[in-house]
Parts: sequence; C-alpha cells; structure tokens
Amino acid sequence: DFGNRDYDLTYPIASTSGLRQGLTSYGDAHFSLFLRKVFIKALGYSEDALSRPIVGIINTFSGFNPCHANVPQLIEAAKRGVHLDGGLAVEFPTISVHESFSHPTSMFLRNLMSMDTEEMIKAQPLDACIMIGGCDKTVPAQLMGGISANKPVLPLITGPMLPGSHRGQRLGACTDCRNNWAAFRAGDVDVEEIAEINEELAPTIGTCGVMGTASTMACITVALGMMPLKGASAPAVSSARLRLAEETGANAVAVAKAQRKPQDLLSKESFLNAITVLQAIGGSTNAVVHLLAIANRHPTVQGTITLQTIEEIGKRTPLLVDLKPSGDNYMNDFHNAGGMLALLLVLRPLLHLSARTISGETLGEILDAASSKRVYRDSRIIRSLSEPLYPSSSLAVLHGNLAPNGAVIKASASKYRHLLSHTGPAVVFENSADLARRIDDPGLPVTKDSVLVLKGIGPIGNPGMPESGMIPIPRKLAAAGVKDMLRLSDGRMSGTAGGTIILHISPEAALAESPFGIVQTGDMIICDLDSRRLHLDIPDMTLEARISQRRARLEGEDGPIRARQQRRGYRGLYERSVNQAHQGTDFDFLTARGP
Ligand code: FES
Ligand code: MG
Repeated sequence: DFGNRDYDLTYPIASTSGLRQGLTSYGDAHFSLFLRKVFIKALGYSEDALSRPIVGIINTFSGFNPCHANVPQLIEAAKRGVHLDGGLAVEFPTISVHESFSHPTSMFLRNLMSMDTEEMIKAQPLDACIMIGGCDKTVPAQLMGGISANKPVLPLITGPMLPGSHRGQRLGACTDCRNNWAAFRAGDVDVEEIAEINEELAPTIGTCGVMGTASTMACITVALGMMPLKGASAPAVSSARLRLAEETGANAVAVAKAQRKPQDLLSKESFLNAITVLQAIGGSTNAVVHLLAIANRHPTVQGTITLQTIEEIGKRTPLLVDLKPSGDNYMNDFHNAGGMLALLLVLRPLLHLSARTISGETLGEILDAASSKRVYRDSRIIRSLSEPLYPSSSLAVLHGNLAPNGAVIKASASKYRHLLSHTGPAVVFENSADLARRIDDPGLPVTKDSVLVLKGIGPIGNPGMPESGMIPIPRKLAAAGVKDMLRLSDGRMSGTAGGTIILHISPEAALAESPFGIVQTGDMIICDLDSRRLHLDIPDMTLEARISQRRARLEGEDGPIRARQQRRGYRGLYERSVNQAHQGTDFDFLTARGP
C-alpha cells in the first residue's frame, strides 16, 4: 500500500508485481513506481501487461559463444510459455563466457558472471527469472548468483551438440579433440587428416556432446531439483529443447506466483542427490569445484558439503552411464536411452526422495508419477545397479602430506589402472611456461614410470585455475607408445579429458604454506588409490625446511605475494579474494557467511 489509493486505482499494478519491488530509489515509493512505469511504458507495455507476474529471462547470447547460439530461439519459446500462462516475459543480458574464448581461462570469469547474475536479478523488478546458459562455467555461475540473489530462479540449459562423423567413426567435442590430437602428436594421424577431423568435432551448435563439465552440470541441475527431467539432455538443435523452453516459461509463472526461492527449495539432501548423480554419470572433476561453490552460497548448506561428502557418496555409488570420457557414447545417446528419468529411477534407492523441486513436488513424487507409466531405459547406456560400468568412486578424493586439504582424481577415466597405485620419481615443471618449454625436450630426464608434476596452475597461481592438468605425455615417450602416466597438479582438467591425473591439489603451490610447492625433480611420489593416499616420500624435517626457505622468497620484497596485494582491477580482486579448490574457488566475500 503506497498511501495513495487514487493512484493505485488509476494504475492497477498487481500488488504481487515485480514492478513494486525495491521502490525506494527516489525516496517516495509512490513516485518511484510512477517513474518506473514512465520508462517501462516507453517499451509499449499496457497496464494489463504490467499487472502480470514479471518473468526476467537472462540472455547469454554472444557471437563468441557457439554453446549458446540457440539462446534467441530459446528466449522466443520461453516467452511463449510465460505469455500463454499469463505472465509478462522481459529479457535482459548478462555476460557470456565460452571455454575457448576466455583468456586466461573461463574459470577466471565464473565468479564475475555469478556477481553479474546475482546483482542484476536483485536490481531489477522481476518476480522470477529464467537463467539461460549451458557452457561449462555458465550454469555454475548462474546457480551461484541465483542462490545468492534468492529470488525464484529457473535454469534453462542450451543443450548438447550432436556428434560428428569422420571416416565411419563418430566424433564429439571434446574427448575426441584430445584423443585425435594425441594421435597426431604420436604421428598416427597426418596433418591432412587432423584438419578434416577439426571440421567434424563440433558439427552443430550446443554444449560439448560428451559427459564433460557442461553435461555434468546440466545433469546436476536436474538432480538438485531445479529443472525438468528432460532438461539435461535434449539436444540443442532439437524441437524437444524448444518445448522445454516453453515449459520453463510456464513453470516460471507458477514459481513466481508461489515465490519458490532457491534458498528455501534447496537443502543438504538436494546436494547429496546431486553428488550421487555426479558419481553415477562419471561426471567432470570440475563439477566438484562448482558444487562446493554452489553449496557454499547457501546459508544453511554452507560447510556441510565437503570433499569428504563426495568421497563418502562415491564409495556407495557405481558408475552407470556409459559416456565419454569414462565410457564410449555421446549425450544424445544418453537422451535417447532414457536420460535423467531413467537414471534417477535406477538410482532411486540411493536418493533422498524428500528433496523438494522447483515444480513444488518432491523428487520422490516426481519419480512415483513417472514410474506409473512405462519408462524406457537402454541398459547399454544407462546400466543397472547390479551391472555397473565401474563399481564405485568414479571420482575419488586423495589426502596426504602433498595435499593436506585434498586432491581429486577421476579414477574411472584412467584406462591404465596400474597407475592408480604407483610410486615414481617426480619430474617437476614450475608453471605452464616451464612445461611448454621443456616437455618435448629430447633431453628431459623422464621415463614412463616418472610422475609428471605441474605447479602454479591453482586458483591464484595462474588466476582461474586453468584446465592444464592433463599434462601431455612427453613427445619422445608418446612416440614410443606411452599412452598414460601419473600426473599431478594444483589445476583442473577439462571434463572431457581422461588419463591418470590428480587435480585440485590444495593448498596450491602459489601459497607459501603449500607442501606441493616444494616438490623437486627426483623426489619419490607415492599414489595409492586404495588408501586414498598421496604422499611425498621425504622426511618431515626436510619438507618443513623447504617450506620455510620458499616462504621467505615468496613473501620477500620482489616476491609474488607482494605483487598480488598491489595488483589493480578484477585480477587484483580475484587474486586477493579467491578461496582454494576444496572450498569451490569462490570469492571469500561471496560465500553465504562471507570471508
Ligand atoms: Fe561450451 Fe564445451 S565449450 S560446453
Ligand atoms: Mg570443458
């Protein structure tokens, strides 16, 4: 009630309308509403239109983002859904982040995108918001921002691309980008053929067509209860995808009316379900970082979901979905095999069925309703609990003196399993530039039993924690037929990559207290997956002495720590505020409880 009934009668904006939110900008709420209407009317809206629930639609289209190339069509379909159900759809932009066109790395921009998303949802007069995105960092950024903004939000995913074809073989970005590049490096594929392959790896728009980070986050968004079941896998170029957009528009009107907010909807159980799905799909290691960041935006969930939770759920969850990089198939196969509905029905005994969803029903109610009909499942792509692809722990968490705060490995993507329990001498690269300079040096003292160590690619060390953790096999070994080696870093790797690769070592080498920072070439490293142990085999006293020597250098007058404190701009903010991988690499001031 704005104290002037005559004005309200003349301009019957519904008391629920988003246009009434935050009406303090001009001192007097009545005048603020009047001014707001002046400007929205410039767009030609009628009083009737403005009296409806207002559904914002986030437009993340960009000419630099093929994963989001269908966003204009999705907006059109989502608007149709909003309008058919009596709402008013209003689109607005936020930044668009594509994996390949985001220097130094897309992860550097994830937190910026989450701030853009949070602040624009908060700032604008909307009753609910559809967040359209798909590429790897977008969905996490939008979930982080949406949870922090805590207005009703509905993720709408752009969807995966279709696979391509090369000389009778199916291909898909980007597991096959890596396989084929490795074959080219080893001399098995010539320059003409690799150019042909280049044209087929991403043959349509949409997100990467394997179980990389984008697909993983799409499945997780369903498991969190934030999206309809088909929302994870319908191809970007399919009519099903457009119908999902229309359905999301209609859902948004209902969610706006019910004011179903993410902080009320999501619970610890929602996140436990998401982790169960993450393990069962053989999801991306990146999703571990994103899930921790998303959970830590939620005021009551923060701190209850840790690397230990991921490890514990992994131990009782088999890998069921046969998709690259852990298996052999593509996202459209998963879709045609029954998708998330079929998977959740198999996983049912492991799920928390009382978790709420955006529809207003619990997950259990949705699965009950679905299972009353006949649900198709292709058991070659989506296995049963008794015939898994991998018995448990597709993602495992390691600890030890090298990684006191943990490290992550996608054990299911290791095809040379003897390397999962391996002891060998370290060959150390201090940073990415050092790696680029020496990895193919014929004189590099490396054998197939060496452990390749790359430092300086953690959240701070190479801001954004780039996906350089899949250290290439040195050319001389690749040419001799070596396909995999034990590799360690404080960085990430693409969700589409495979190999015996330990990632996210925390604390990262850029921090003065990091034991990982003091590893030297020739030190023996012990990795034992069974005991989840990652150990540097040197005496404790040596380890401590090396840390204190290094600390003096890092913290000195010309050292990198001083330089970070003085750095300007977003990079300065990033380096001073980002937390470690085991916390989600969010900015400390953005987590639910702040720094
Ligand atoms: Fe966008 Fe892979 S590059 S999802
Ligand atoms: Mg990726």
